[in-house]
Amino acid sequence: MSVTIRRQERQIKHVNVDMSTKLGNLTIADPVFTASGCAASGQELAAFNDLTAIGGVVTKSIQLNARAGRATPRMAETPSGMLNSIGLQGPGIDIFLNRDLPWLAEHEVTAVVSIAGQSVEEYSKLAGKLRGKPASMIEVNISCPNVEDRGQVFACDKSAAASVIQAVKRAAPASMPIFAKLSPDVTDIVSIASACMDSGATGLSLINTTLGMVIDTTTMRPLLAGVTGGLSGPAIRPLALRCVWQVHQAMPDVPLFGIGGIRTGLDALQFILAGASAVQIGTVLFNDPGAPQRISRELSEALAERGMDSVQQAIGLGHRPPEVIVPELPEPPGDTREDELYESAVADDED
Ligand code: FUM
Repeated sequence: MSVTIRRQERQIKHVNVDMSTKLGNLTIADPVFTASGCAASGQELAAFNDLTAIGGVVTKSIQLNARAGRATPRMAETPSGMLNSIGLQGPGIDIFLNRDLPWLAEHEVTAVVSIAGQSVEEYSKLAGKLRGKPASMIEVNISCPNVEDRGQVFACDKSAAASVIQAVKRAAPASMPIFAKLSPDVTDIVSIASACMDSGATGLSLINTTLGMVIDTTTMRPLLAGVTGGLSGPAIRPLALRCVWQVHQAMPDVPLFGIGGIRTGLDALQFILAGASAVQIGTVLFNDPGAPQRISRELSEALAERGMDSVQQAIGLGHRPPEVIVPELPEPPGDTREDELYESAVADDED
């Protein structure tokens, strides 16, 4: 594909870019979503954003039963990021379905419901409870690092990931797109991604947080009560981008959400160029709750500046081969001199 880059047109007053994107059988008007765990069920963000103008809200991962989460402290600042060790706190699926999902539906917000189970059976029950409910998509969180049993990080094992996705596929409403949220804490993310796709996922959300920790040098103990937590924010952006790149390269037709430290429209553009069809915004919401609409606007301006009139034109564009520029060589000086001598000899002969 040939794209003209018009860098000189920086002062764009009005941009007319088609921001719609396809996620399975759904066409969504905007590619910017809020990420699970950073926007609860969306209500609080409505004061800062028109939630109908962004792609949608991915709700905090919900479990079958209410859960208090881990002990405090459960958040810590880190260089260019933060650690969380929330432990999937939440009211349980029944309260969520009666209280939170109806609010999103009444306000015409696209709802992506994130579910997290402690066993394959729990995932299946959670997905079954979404039948007949006003959810647009399911995000299957198989990658929360804050679980007591590392065996529950299903996304770290191909066959465990596959079993969860197969169960969700069987139980979920037939036409509802299913996105599996993967962990970067694996050696070969492409093999986990392909196990999920072979098991019936529609697409993938890349990535969840990566396991980290901080030690408090005053107490000389781990700062988080849970010892370890999930690292998010710009610190993980290159890692997330690499995962999107690798999975898109292996499976270019699979719709991907790019997630990890996105703070600006240009950050979002990087993920789209790497192969994401949409992005999710997480940690930035804690200091800039209006970020989703700002990032969407900045992304549309960045696309227009690069001569593109739709976001879909940019998906995976970073994978095109580099343009090979062959420099024009100057005439070798010797040839020119020989030509001149030849021409003057011919002229002498003619005299
Ligand atoms: O601990 C938590 O609630 C985090 C969940 C996640 O990162 O998936």
